[in-house]
Amino acid sequence: MIAALFLMCGLNASATAQAPRERLNIDKGWRFAYGHADDEAADFGYGLRPFFFAKAGYGDGPANPEFSDAGWRKVDLPHDWAVELPFDQRGNTNHGSKAIGHPFPENSVGWYRKTLTIPASDKGRRISLELDGVYRNSVVWINGHYLGTEPSGYSGFRYDITDYVNFGGENLIAVRADATVEEGWYYEGAGIYRHVWLTKTDPLHVAQWGTFVRSTVEGANARLDIDLTVQNVFKSEQGFAIRHEVVDARGQVVAETTQADRSVNAVSDGVFAATLTLSEAHLWSLEDPYLYTLRTSLLRDGQVVDRYDTRFGVRTVTFDPDKGFFLNGKAVKLQGTNNHQDHAGVGVALPDGLQTWRLKQLKSFGVNAYRASHHPPTPELLDEADRLGMLVIDEHRMMGTSPEITHQLERLIRRDRNHPSIILWSVGNEEWALEWKDIGTHLALEMQDFVRRLDPTRRTTVATSGSGKGTSIGADVIGFNYGAQHDVDGFHAQHPEKPALMTEEGSTLTTRGIYFDDPARVHLNAYDRQGRPGSSLSIEEGWTRVMARPWMSGMFVWTGFDYRGETTPFGWPAISSQFGMVDTTGVLKDTAYYLKSVWTDQPMVHILPHWNWAGREGQPIDVRVYSNGDAVELFLNGKSLGRQAMPRYSHLRWRVPYAPGTLTARAYQKGRQVAVQSVTTTAAPTKVVARPDKTALKADGSDISVVWVQVSDKKGRPVPTADNLIDLKVSGPIRLIGVGNGDPGSHEADRPAERHRYARLSNWRSLAIDDLTATAAAVAQDADTSSWRDPSQWLPPEAQPPLTKSLVLRGEFARPDARPDEEVVLFVGALAADQALYVNGQPVQAETLDGALIVRLNPAQLREKNSLAYVFTTPAGGVQALYDQSVSASRWGSLRVTTPAAPWQRHLFNGWAQIIVQSTGEPGMARLVARSAGLTSAMVDFKVE
Ligand code: GAL
Repeated sequence: MIAALFLMCGLNASATAQAPRERLNIDKGWRFAYGHADDEAADFGYGLRPFFFAKAGYGDGPANPEFSDAGWRKVDLPHDWAVELPFDQRGNTNHGSKAIGHPFPENSVGWYRKTLTIPASDKGRRISLELDGVYRNSVVWINGHYLGTEPSGYSGFRYDITDYVNFGGENLIAVRADATVEEGWYYEGAGIYRHVWLTKTDPLHVAQWGTFVRSTVEGANARLDIDLTVQNVFKSEQGFAIRHEVVDARGQVVAETTQADRSVNAVSDGVFAATLTLSEAHLWSLEDPYLYTLRTSLLRDGQVVDRYDTRFGVRTVTFDPDKGFFLNGKAVKLQGTNNHQDHAGVGVALPDGLQTWRLKQLKSFGVNAYRASHHPPTPELLDEADRLGMLVIDEHRMMGTSPEITHQLERLIRRDRNHPSIILWSVGNEEWALEWKDIGTHLALEMQDFVRRLDPTRRTTVATSGSGKGTSIGADVIGFNYGAQHDVDGFHAQHPEKPALMTEEGSTLTTRGIYFDDPARVHLNAYDRQGRPGSSLSIEEGWTRVMARPWMSGMFVWTGFDYRGETTPFGWPAISSQFGMVDTTGVLKDTAYYLKSVWTDQPMVHILPHWNWAGREGQPIDVRVYSNGDAVELFLNGKSLGRQAMPRYSHLRWRVPYAPGTLTARAYQKGRQVAVQSVTTTAAPTKVVARPDKTALKADGSDISVVWVQVSDKKGRPVPTADNLIDLKVSGPIRLIGVGNGDPGSHEADRPAERHRYARLSNWRSLAIDDLTATAAAVAQDADTSSWRDPSQWLPPEAQPPLTKSLVLRGEFARPDARPDEEVVLFVGALAADQALYVNGQPVQAETLDGALIVRLNPAQLREKNSLAYVFTTPAGGVQALYDQSVSASRWGSLRVTTPAAPWQRHLFNGWAQIIVQSTGEPGMARLVARSAGLTSAMVDFKVE
């Protein structure tokens, strides 16, 4: 019976054996255009077609597969359209003042379209579309059929599209995202900013996120308890066997088990438990993040019909109310940072390589834990945390128990529960409306109970700004946001059973490279001080308090990276936060070096500020030094300014009258010098310096290199105060995808992008003419078309113009409002092999642009009202086909005005700028050139293969 089904479905058995499951990344080759939040014409007529939402398959505007997107921009995902928008004072400063949201309906809706060819040989398989994150309120259509709406901008979602697929042909996916209404209080981006996948499986398969591997360490071994959810979409009961194999990091199978004679009812799920023993289990730890893979196979009649890999690690995690956090039985203080997900230049659309880069940057100053505040993170971030050895608090977006909110929480846990990096779930953060109330306690308990049912292996926290009542009472592990806001010792005494951690501390305000406040430029000095005196602590005070409390599991600094939005204390014109230990590009601020001094053992010493203070000669400068030595001696131009003992968890300070030259700090441990650092007064810049993090790129259209740009003086010393404008050019198979400099006051473009405006042609009329000699009159600009036929109106077949006669089709367009530097193009259709085109009565030749037919227009030569006319004998497919779809007007002609992208350039900010370079997908040699007026240029060559 099963074999018969195979045959009926035309499934190729040998192909099934080779690739029982395929998960294809479909990030490449999308089309993008801005729609409109409240003007349906500018939203490509979406929602206007009769029966649009009333009948299945009536998706209109871009949701209609017949719609032409020939003039839309080509984009690869991940894509964040918000980062391409200008800054605007009317924008929300909490979101980084991008021109998006309610005041900007023209910028707040984005459309994405992609054509997928799905081969006929896939018939019989289940095909699913998986989107890891779309900001936000996304509506997804396939082939004109509505699939669903996902309000969350952070939860991954999936549609089984099998029933709608055109096997052996083209399939049109359309996604409309609407970022008008915000979810968070920080920059959130807009669009399909995470990966999109097409998954193909047998109808009997491992369900999405269908494995859960729990490990229990038993001496040198580990017991693995595996829950497997098998989904059967067949309309009959299915019998099968399950094989689990554990593969170690070298690819060796180190444990396996097979379960025969399992079955799942028709169109149902079944959960199957298995237990395995891993002998000599290699533990996952921060120093040695060792990963295993569970390879699960489903076999029907001895043949593998699905294979599913689950990466996991074996480790134990304990939050002890008296002794704090333990990993594998070893006490570890959580040296954490909170982070939002945006990065300079690219907004929230991070290539995978940037996730890795950011985690490494945090690790460079001793960070061992990451709180994904305040929403589910990108899956690849968690993969990297597993690989690199970074502990994670995985956070849900909003507290609640409604089905929608619960479903988001469920997706988070099911998606992420196999990651060894995750040590704690967080179900909420500072829910001000309820964190002091009984409802807060109740919701915290309900949500934690829900989490525990899905994952009994981890505990749950609620981060709170006020303790003693509400959510803090309900929290399984208490998360204190800001020690100065709580009586942490009193709470601990009253609730000795509750483990605790500082889920947020700091919120200090520092601008990288600034040492004197300059509010006019929204810059604040980088000396560690309280950001909100009285209610938050400096980084140093915060860590000192944590270290004084052995029961406190650790501290998560607010924040690791600066992020867009939350422009405390300035508001506009500031566009990013200044809470970070590193700026938005990842350059370490001085507080990161403080943390390095208390969070790492590798001997180090760091001096602040820089030593370029021309004009302040003789004035005392506040010099501070961070070191993990036990004493430091400071020298100015070789003369000792004294040796001081380093106080625990603190810093040293000298008041040094400024004289140009070199300031040197020598750090000692038990009298022996262990580290030295100097800052030297530099001369003027002479040369641009570009330092890529790598020069060999994969030709996969995704791999990146993070390039630092600085300028150096004649002795090769980087100039720490430089603000030169750098022009960037690339050639060969690389592209620039973002630039930044970490200046919270910079309104320069992060990601220059061309912008299109579209106008539909209207008032279409058609006329059957007897012979082509009548053409001149019919196409004349002033031809009277009042008696012509409206081609969008249906006519019975007998009233159709005879096919043998010539046909004139005319549409109108208004002269676009275009600046001289803007390009105006008319997209025309390929309606008939013998078509002739006229614009305003003049014959024109179409040219090809990206596979589409266009006519370039000179707006100066246009009139207020213009016409495009086609003349042909028979349109392709016949007259009826031409007329059938009202939406086909978008195929007959549309006008596009293109505002060119601004040039790629950036000022340095206090000596630094960052460029992110990405491979385009082609192999070859590529070059980046960074120029600045009057300076020697920098060149970087990349090998892309
Ligand atoms: C906290 C909040 C964070 C951020 C921070 C700024 O209250 O949880 O998301 O807003 O304040 O200081």
